[in-house]
Amino acid sequence: ELDRTVRPRKLEEYIGQTQVKENLKIFIEAARKRGEALDHVLLYGPPGLGKTTLAHIIAAELGVQIRVTSGPAIERPGDLAALLTNLEENDVLFIDEIHRLNRAVEEVLYPAMEDYALDIIIGKGANARSLRIDLPKFTLVGATTRAGALSAPLRDRFGIINRLDFYSTADLVQIITRTARILKIAIDAEGANELARRARGTPRIANRLLKRVRDYAEVKANGVITAAVAAAALNRLEVDEKGLDRVDRLMLETIIGKFDGGPVGVETLAAATQEAVETIEDVCEPYLMQIGFLQRTPRGRVTTRLAWEHLGLKYNKKDETNQ
Ligand code: ADE
Repeated sequence: ELDRTVRPRKLEEYIGQTQVKENLKIFIEAARKRGEALDHVLLYGPPGLGKTTLAHIIAAELGVQIRVTSGPAIERPGDLAALLTNLEENDVLFIDEIHRLNRAVEEVLYPAMEDYALDIIIGKGANARSLRIDLPKFTLVGATTRAGALSAPLRDRFGIINRLDFYSTADLVQIITRTARILKIAIDAEGANELARRARGTPRIANRLLKRVRDYAEVKANGVITAAVAAAALNRLEVDEKGLDRVDRLMLETIIGKFDGGPVGVETLAAATQEAVETIEDVCEPYLMQIGFLQRTPRGRVTTRLAWEHLGLKYNKKDETNQ
């Protein structure tokens, strides 16, 4: 799979997220020097920013194996017990979408994280006995788009908590240039810049758009991605100059057209747009808020002047004191 060759494998190759990277580098080196398992790591932030990539890099830098699973995939306590008992000393267990673990499974995870132990109940009723099994020391790397959805006891058991932020255009230019080199895609500096500006601050989107723009360049141009080729291809894909896609614009247009610019509650917005609340909250809103098009208020979502003007509309705010 192409993704495998494109994903950076070492911290040194990983572009952006400088603070997170520098901190992790120190913690990993310290754990290595002591021959210990790295403390448990929580990575949170919008989708596509490199949480899974970082989990793999952490394991590679530690020189250990990684086991990959996800919150919804671990249905019963026994599923988690099987994963934990098969780890080797200092291994990484990566749980994606960790906010979707169910309560029964979470309860098993607490002693595993805290004491590297599994508490098993044997028998029923008056005959029930609790048995403690020692586990190998390990590092749990959890990833989530919504840190707020984690229970407090779970969140508290992570010693290292990192938030990933949207990437700058300069970082995305570097990522696009690197991916293009690996995939042998012809792109010039202006082409990379045009793509980067429209990639929503997100490497996954940048790399996806790069492949689609290459298709366009090969069929409709001479194969080289220039700024003009990138712009024409992205317009055709309905990705606008700010990187907004159809869904992003539908959100803004709905809030403005049906709710006078807001405030509107997320459930109402979901019903009006036929999108899932999770998609709105985890995918659309973080970027719209980042670029200052949307605000969250106690009474709901509100579009800003910037959003109206971006859509070519005259800003028409309701009573200022009423927001
Ligand atoms: N590909 C996707 N994300 C990346 C990153 N942060 N650094 C380098 N290459 C990437």
